[in-house]
Amino acid sequence: MMKIAPSMLSSDFARMGEETRRMEEAGADFIHLDVMDGIFVPNLTFGAPVIRAIRPYAATPFDVHLMIQRPQLYIRDFAEAGADSITFHLEAEGDPAETIRLIREAGCRPAVSLKPGTPAEAVFPYLAELSMVLVMTVEPGFGGQKFQQPMMDKVRAIRARAMAQGLDVPIEIDGGVNLETIAEAARAGVSICVAGTGVFKAPDAAEAIRALKEAAQAACAAQP
Ligand code: DX5
Ligand code: ZN
Repeated sequence: MMKIAPSMLSSDFARMGEETRRMEEAGADFIHLDVMDGIFVPNLTFGAPVIRAIRPYAATPFDVHLMIQRPQLYIRDFAEAGADSITFHLEAEGDPAETIRLIREAGCRPAVSLKPGTPAEAVFPYLAELSMVLVMTVEPGFGGQKFQQPMMDKVRAIRARAMAQGLDVPIEIDGGVNLETIAEAARAGVSICVAGTGVFKAPDAAEAIRALKEAAQAACAAQP
């Protein structure tokens, strides 16, 4: 079953705690938190203090996506704020192996993300150390962008490599997920989809999450 991680980037920031609870009640598998520093991406969102403030509103695991230039400096803060998994970008500063180690030492699940222009091969050396790989299906920075279909080849390449190494690393995608694109993602072997606009702008979040999961399941069932 496809897992859905609503992105709080599309929530009402004035009521972020309640919005987090609303997503849990709607059936979210993860709460996706987009941290942007205005340097790694041309946008600013929130940091560890905000995550700490909303943490008591839900028991659902927090999936923290760091779009920041120097992730190593803040790992401990995010872990202490209540992150369950911490995803950093391979394109950010610092030795990825070291960042992965710091995340694990802080008690969180390490994951790396690849921007659309970064090839699948870039993550191969780290697969054995990761609990997830996040393949960006839009340029990071903003919600509401168009899904980049060619990223499904990257998903397939990473999955093939992981399987060849006897690893079962879940692949998450982020950006432009809707009822059509989630079907393509499911066929490519994605197991977690981030959805911002698709869930928050829907009249009924629970119904939107259910429909996304059903579309993914139908796509897999129809596969030869
Ligand atoms: C983009 C963020 C995404 C974004 C997805 O940088 O990482 O999580 O909020 O939003 P939608 O689903 O609207 O494309
Ligand atoms: Zn994200």
